[in-house]
Amino acid sequence: MKASTSSMPSSAPVAHKAPLPPSSSRSSRIAPHSHIKGLGLNSEGRAITDTAAGGFVGQENAREACGIIVDLVKSRRFSGRALLLVGAPGTGKTALALAVSHELGSKVPFCPMVGSEVYSTEVKKTEVLAESFRRAIGLRIKETKEVYEGEVTEMTPSESENPLSGYGKTISHVVVGLKSVKGTKQLRLDPSIYEAMLKEKIVVGDVIYIEHSGAVKRVGRSDAYASSYDLESETYVPLPKGDVHKRKELVQDVTLGDLDAANARPQGGQDIMSVMGSLVKSGRTEVTEKLRKEVNKVVKGYVDQGVAEVVPGVVFIDEVHMLDIECFTYLNALLESPMAPTVILATNRGNASVRGTQDLVAPHGIPVDLLDRLVFTEPYSKDQVARVLQLRANIEGLKLAEGVRDMLATEGEKTSLRYALQLLAPASIIASINDRSEISLEDVGEMNELFLDAKTSAAMISASEKLKP
Ligand SMILES: Nc1ncnc2c1ncn2[C@@H]1O[C@H](COP(=O)(O)OP(=O)(O)OP(=O)(O)O)[C@@H](O)[C@H]1O
Ligand SMILES: [Mg+2]
Repeated sequence: MKASTSSMPSSAPVAHKAPLPPSSSRSSRIAPHSHIKGLGLNSEGRAITDTAAGGFVGQENAREACGIIVDLVKSRRFSGRALLLVGAPGTGKTALALAVSHELGSKVPFCPMVGSEVYSTEVKKTEVLAESFRRAIGLRIKETKEVYEGEVTEMTPSESENPLSGYGKTISHVVVGLKSVKGTKQLRLDPSIYEAMLKEKIVVGDVIYIEHSGAVKRVGRSDAYASSYDLESETYVPLPKGDVHKRKELVQDVTLGDLDAANARPQGGQDIMSVMGSLVKSGRTEVTEKLRKEVNKVVKGYVDQGVAEVVPGVVFIDEVHMLDIECFTYLNALLESPMAPTVILATNRGNASVRGTQDLVAPHGIPVDLLDRLVFTEPYSKDQVARVLQLRANIEGLKLAEGVRDMLATEGEKTSLRYALQLLAPASIIASINDRSEISLEDVGEMNELFLDAKTSAAMISASEKLKP
């Protein structure tokens, strides 16, 4: 992310006048949910309604309910329970789950999947579910280690003739200068550390630490460089306190799923995953139930010693009516295991038969024993559709002429919010074909002739079937 600054002297005034390259986040594809940033709740957990906080309009009850779930998950009091989001298509169930994952932050694992993912020809259905559950259980490992930490002031590899071959040179060692608040140190280090530094893309001005084992970690870019022209995505950190050589508490977040995978394919190396990857001496190359049990045992030992802490996260299963009865019974078993995450399910079905059964009709297509907590998402009013439309238009950088928002909102209320939102992009294309910078009423009219919404098309089909002899 920061490679561009390395070759540029920090005082290069000419470059600053050049037009800014479009930053990667702006030019990236705009996904359907890119306006959703969180649940938009105030400090008391009430939904903020006057602005589209977190990217949400309306749906106050569902948002507040999800806020409570977030608190419960964070305080680890909802493990092993399931929450179902129910509502008509396009009422924001998937968006809510995404907001929950934003609210949980990066420290609490969130593992999303879609019901139909379990139907794979390579992996058993239950295996897919089991893996998702493992990926939703985090492990925070704390250790105190001796490290060298500081801002990199120099990084000079020293080359020597390669005694083994006539061609080229090899690096015999690297000289690294590190600066902290208390002083500076020049270290003469092994070439493998130089390789690790290149791999982490470390340049002068970065704050890093080097463990005794040889693992190198980049913390961020030093504050001192913050004023110079740099990419926005950079994290700036202050100059490390204390001496360069010191004991430091390191915290690593991994999931049980990571540990299973690492132990099934041990890599051999110095970074945390490689070390954690040799917890279990198994020689296996596949994640099996037995391997999981062994990993659990080691993890339990760590927890008992106080080295690690279990952080239960969230599994989100969208379109949960796609699961069949076998999956549901397995899900129940998973929920009862001692290390279970919170499960959030979403569906837009009313009464439906449970997949894999002959005549078992259940609310939402889910066996009743799983349904203890439900959150409903309500359909939107025209005004709410209009506000979401404006939000999306801003994000997609589209201008709407007088009355367009109103017209699309009417359309959205009649069909669904999703349909209205999806009209924006094609309308903007028609506008640009017609040489207009903003979407006008004509563009929307033209598009309405080209595209149909689902309800209209269904009505047309049934009408044409009646005509058949
Ligand atoms: N309250 C809201 N505020 C802002 N945007 C919303 C809101 N509700 C839904 N959206 C947006 O509307 C679109 C459709 O919503 P979403 O995909 O979450 O619906 P869904 O309930 O999951 O539907 P389905 O049952 O078909 O899966 C998305 O782009 C979503 O971000
Ligand atoms: Mg959805």
